[in-house]
Amino acid sequence: MILAETRGQLEASLEDWSAAGERIALVPTMGNLHEGHLRLVGEAQALASRVVVSIFVNPLQFGPQEDFASYPRTLQADRELLQAQGADLLFAPPVEQVYPQGQQGHTQVEVPDISAQLCGASRPGHFSGVATVVCKLLNLVRPQLALFGEKDYQQLLVIRRMVADLALPVQIIGVPTVREADGLALSSRNRYLSTEQRQQAPRLYRTLCWLAEGLKAGAGDFALLEQEACARLSQAGFQPDYVSIRRSQDLAPAGPQDHSLRLLAAAQLGQARLIDNLGLVLTAES
Ligand code: PAF
Repeated sequence: MILAETRGQLEASLEDWSAAGERIALVPTMGNLHEGHLRLVGEAQALASRVVVSIFVNPLQFGPQEDFASYPRTLQADRELLQAQGADLLFAPPVEQVYPQGQQGHTQVEVPDISAQLCGASRPGHFSGVATVVCKLLNLVRPQLALFGEKDYQQLLVIRRMVADLALPVQIIGVPTVREADGLALSSRNRYLSTEQRQQAPRLYRTLCWLAEGLKAGAGDFALLEQEACARLSQAGFQPDYVSIRRSQDLAPAGPQDHSLRLLAAAQLGQARLIDNLGLVLTAES
C-alpha cells in the first residue's frame, strides 16, 4: 500500500492509475479505523480497481467545545489494518496540505436545509465543515465513486445533495451500519464510554427498534412516540438530543402519508455523543 502525505505524492499515483484507465474509489475517514470502515473498503474493492482511503481529522467540522484535540489518532494501527485489507493508497495529509491558506476565511460549501436540522441544529457549522472537506477530497482524488457509512445518515444525504447540486462527477454509495453483537453501532467515539456506559449504550439502538415496532403496529402520533423514546433514553442515563421520525429521501419530518422512513437518534452518554438510525418501510401489511 502506498502512503501519500502530500498532494504531490497523491497526484503521482493518481496520474499512473488514470493513464492505465483504473476505476478509483475513495473511502474518506477520520481514522481510528474499525470494522465499519473496513466494510467500506471491502465494498469499494468490489466496485473499483483501486481503493484510496483518506485519514484526516478535519478541524473544520468540529465546534469549539468539541473533541477535535482528543479525537483518537491511531495512524500506525490504521495503516496496518488497511495494508492487511489490501487498500491501494492511504492519503494521510497534515492540516497544512488540506488547508494551505489556513482555515480562517477558507471557502465553505453550504448545503442548505438538510444541514440545519437534527445533528446540524446542535452542531452549528458541522455539516459545512464536512461538505467542504469531502468536496476538497473528491477534487484531489477525482474518484469515480466514494463510499460513506449509513451510520451517519444525515451526513450521507448532505454529501449526496452537494454532489447533485454541484454536478460533481462521482457516484456516492451508502453502506449499511456495522453493529456489535448487542446492536451498538460501531463508532470511533465508542471508546469514550466507560465499562458501565458501554453496557447501557445499545439502548440507543433498542430504542429505535422499539420505535420501529410501534410504527409497524400502526401508532400514528409521531410526536408522542418521539417523546416517549426520549424519555426511555433519559431513564437509561442518556441525555437525548433528539429522536426523530423522518422521510428517508430528504429527512423532512414524516407524516402518516409517508412510507419510507428513517428513524434517527442522537444522545450524549458520558463523554460520548452517540448517533444511530434505522430505515423502515411501512407496507400495507405492517
Ligand atoms: O464520517 C467521517 O468520518 C467524516 O465526517 C468524513 C466524511 C471523513 C469527513 O471528514
